[in-house]
Amino acid sequence: MRTEKARMNAPRTRIGILTGGGDCPGLNAVVRAVVKAAAKRGWETLGILGGFNGMLAPVRTMPLDYQKMDGLLTSGGTILGTSNRGPFAAKTGLGNAHEIPAEVIAAAKASFEALGLKALVVVGGDGTLSIALQLFRHGMPVVGVPKTIDNDLEATVITFGFDSAVACATDALDRLHTTAKSHDRVMVLEVMGRYAGWIAISAGIAGGGDVILIPEIPFRYDRICAQVASREKSGKRFTLVVAAEGAREAGGEFVTQDAPCGDRETRLGGIGAVVAEEIAKRTGKEARVCVLGHLQRGGGPTCFDRLLCTRFGAAAVRLIAEGGFGRMVALKPPTTVSVPIEQAVGRLKTVPVDGDLVQTARDLGISLGD
Ligand code: F6P
Repeated sequence: MRTEKARMNAPRTRIGILTGGGDCPGLNAVVRAVVKAAAKRGWETLGILGGFNGMLAPVRTMPLDYQKMDGLLTSGGTILGTSNRGPFAAKTGLGNAHEIPAEVIAAAKASFEALGLKALVVVGGDGTLSIALQLFRHGMPVVGVPKTIDNDLEATVITFGFDSAVACATDALDRLHTTAKSHDRVMVLEVMGRYAGWIAISAGIAGGGDVILIPEIPFRYDRICAQVASREKSGKRFTLVVAAEGAREAGGEFVTQDAPCGDRETRLGGIGAVVAEEIAKRTGKEARVCVLGHLQRGGGPTCFDRLLCTRFGAAAVRLIAEGGFGRMVALKPPTTVSVPIEQAVGRLKTVPVDGDLVQTARDLGISLGD
């Protein structure tokens, strides 16, 4: 039996945590929950800085003191920093995951050992969790926490950050509504979401949009203009259009901001302006575009996300205690569960075209542009 002195001198269990990919509201709330739940078990937590890149020389870390978690529940961004490019980039778009070079994996494993970590909590979306999966397959004990404003991860009903982004987009629509009405204009709001239309359709319905364009349903300009005309006929001289950045005309291409580039995803964006210009040309109405961009990722989390992040963070620590490595915490209402990471990253979760959200929009007379 160990003496009390031996117990006091025994090294404390130490876990690591990193945030990867694009930031979003709630990352700090997850960090806080992990640190607090770990401290409750007598473990210490080390933050890896700058995403996975922080595990490569020069290794960058930050001790996360239980006493210093004040203010993190509500703050935006990530105190650990993040990155969605570099030698680890395992996914660069719609395609399958790339193999991370063996020497990069070996360097990360060496840092993991040198830091004395028992496990690594990886907070990220599809790209970051694809990296985590590869590291797990090479023997690193990782657990995942699903993050992304896009909500495009399989195996969880919702990712954290999504609700906050939808709240931001809905607020923007509320504001655009009043100015659209004052000027009898067509206002197009372009929102993020990559190749999934979750933000567009959710905010579009919550914000009273008249046309919602999502990647899952290619649109036709004549259908959009028919909606504008039908509103005019009923005396509504303004129209609110919500366009997901991944929306595209039937038979057309995605509108992008740059060409694909080695270690980074193609950046979508610009469809809002294209749609506004075409509507103006076809209807003779004034049309304006507002690109919400990174405002959707900035600022603090909504109450829903604060709670979800806290549940996910605590669940990740329980998962480590159970030895559930290679798994990701997930929401399966009414509870949190864990699922193999490979179930989350195999393919993107897109909006079901025959699902309740699309049907709700149609039932309300919202045009999906088809
Ligand atoms: O995945 C989150 C996201 O915000 C997408 O909605 C968007 O397409 C992309 O990241 C933007 O990435 P970046 O931060 O590189 O501009």
